[in-house]
Amino acid sequence: MKIVLASSNEHKVKEINEIVNKLGYDIEFILPEGKFDPVEDGNTFEANSLIKAKAAWELTKTWALADDSGLCIDSLGGKPGIYSARYETTPQKRIERVLNEMKNIENRKAHFTCAMTLINPKGEIEYACNGICEGSIAYKPSGKNGFGYDPIFLLKNSDKTMAELNDDEKNEISHRSLALQKVLNYISEAHLVENE
Ligand code: IMP
Repeated sequence: MKIVLASSNEHKVKEINEIVNKLGYDIEFILPEGKFDPVEDGNTFEANSLIKAKAAWELTKTWALADDSGLCIDSLGGKPGIYSARYETTPQKRIERVLNEMKNIENRKAHFTCAMTLINPKGEIEYACNGICEGSIAYKPSGKNGFGYDPIFLLKNSDKTMAELNDDEKNEISHRSLALQKVLNYISEAHLVENE
């Protein structure tokens, strides 16, 4: 089974295909051809995920999966939230802005969230779900793996940041991987594809 991933991010499709292969599903995620850059003007992760999934379906008229994710910090009222990718102009500056805003704040609780939407070839929502990874904001960056806010995201019940995990370790606990596993379970239980 092939599913179009509503993204233009090679890294993301590689990460998702690795998780799928590891779990033994006969599914391949592929990127849409050409430029894929729909306007994400929803007010929630779910709304933006649906916008992207529908845009990928419009292009391909086949199975399409979209994810929309970001970092939510309790004491900043859920910010950067849906603005995670545009909170500042570079990943480094985004981290600096968060650390600055958290300077005198004791409650550092935060979570990554990922909303996924699966659209069927008829253009209907087949399944939608969320994955959440809980943690807190560190006082300084640490670790070199991953991307985005990983160096300042301390994992719950651990002294490591997300950027101190290797790819396999991150794939076991990440918001994206948890949401993806729900989608894969659904696909398997609905017999859209057989588990190998
Ligand atoms: P996207 O919806 O997956 O493109 O993610 C939006 C933004 O959220 C990214 O540009 C990152 O800033 C942030 N983000 C999402 N997932 C992660 C993650 O696993 N680690 C670090 N930052 C993330």
